[in-house]
Amino acid sequence: MPDAVQETLVLVKPDGVARNLTGEILRRIEAKGYSITDLKMVEADRGLLERHYEEHVGKPFYEPLVEFMESGPIVAVRVAGQRVVEGFRSLAGATDPTTAAPGTIRGDFGRDWGLRVQQNLVHGSDSPESAARELALWFA
Ligand code: TYD
Ligand code: MG
Repeated sequence: MPDAVQETLVLVKPDGVARNLTGEILRRIEAKGYSITDLKMVEADRGLLERHYEEHVGKPFYEPLVEFMESGPIVAVRVAGQRVVEGFRSLAGATDPTTAAPGTIRGDFGRDWGLRVQQNLVHGSDSPESAARELALWFA
């Protein structure tokens, strides 16, 4: 039996929007066979970002991460498909754009030029539980 259809939250982060990579990222999601079921452009306020990244409070990259996410518009996307939580993480590639595999979004386009925070273009939920929590935040 195939696994049940899942949902995940994808964010095209401010660097992805600013670099006009939104279409390329959405193209890869659709080409993989996943469905976009909701989408909006958001200028996220600090309260939303603090809740989104609550697991990272206190880490050295936390403050620059929140500042970066506040720095411009984000495209929030609800994506559905078989095993899409794990599958989108695979499309995105490793967190660090320098070591993310070529062929992944971060590996092909992400930049890591001594920045205070990884500008790695996309967020994808890391578990079905995280996806449910994050989708409720971004698509309240
Ligand atoms: P994390 O949830 O660990 O990564 P992912 O986005 O792959 O799930 O971290 C959240 C974001 O924080 C990550 O996308 C970029 C930033 N970050 C750094 O800038 N430096 C780091 O060492 C880590 C772990 C994360
Ligand atoms: Mg994460």
